[in-house]
Amino acid sequence: MNGESDIPRRHVYGRTKGKTLKPRQANLMETLFPRVSISLEEAVIDPKRLFGDVDEVWLEVGFGGGEHLAHQAETHPRVGIMGCEPFLNGVAKLVSEIDEQGLTNIRILNDDARFLLERLAPSSLARVFILYPDPWPKKRHNKRRFINQETLGFLASALRPGGELRFASDIPDYIAWTLAHVSRFNREKGETFRWTAERAEDWRTPYEGWPGTRYEAKAIREGRTPCYLAFTRG
Ligand SMILES: C[S@@+](CC[C@H](N)C(=O)[O-])C[C@H]1O[C@@H](n2cnc3c(N)ncnc32)[C@H](O)[C@@H]1O
Repeated sequence: MNGESDIPRRHVYGRTKGKTLKPRQANLMETLFPRVSISLEEAVIDPKRLFGDVDEVWLEVGFGGGEHLAHQAETHPRVGIMGCEPFLNGVAKLVSEIDEQGLTNIRILNDDARFLLERLAPSSLARVFILYPDPWPKKRHNKRRFINQETLGFLASALRPGGELRFASDIPDYIAWTLAHVSRFNREKGETFRWTAERAEDWRTPYEGWPGTRYEAKAIREGRTPCYLAFTRG
């Protein structure tokens, strides 16, 4: 248990800390971060209540250094954007950006996104981004991948009808894995996620207004090809 509710604690894979934070970042983590941080104290979280006056709420899972999230927040000031990232240095980077740009529509969980997803009020999200999740390429590690039947269940509940799930990856096996998991979910739970692609161009073309991500740039430099999936919540 995590001591805050009856929801069991899960193992968080991957690193949660890197280099010592720069003094300015460390300072902002003490001063600004508590004001934008999401608390898991409540068993059910209504995300709109975390923001002032917003039209809808989006969530980014695993935002890395937060470049994409900050861009979305800046270009969509009427949207509240939540981000989850267990890696402290990535969180500190986003907090610095919030400070520099004066962004008011971002809230952060410095932890595993599943702890937030499982608490979200039903139909409370209009969009979810899962961009270049850790690929866990070894067969014996595949089960650590973020996409599975449990997380699809959380996403199905949290997304409102007509809401959108965006999943991008440069790892063909993870793309196939995700499509297979979504098909199985739809088969077993009823048509829930409709893959919007009609032709190959649709998954080869970045999302509208796409700023790219840091991980994507690295993947392209290393010769891998991004794939952009989008699903509509039925
Ligand atoms: C390969 S990186 C991609 C980062 C960023 N989305 C990008 O494209 O540059 C994957 C990120 O997901 C984060 N992550 C891994 N498991 C997570 C989880 N359960 N919940 C939230 N974030 C997670 C990692 O810490 C890491 O920063």
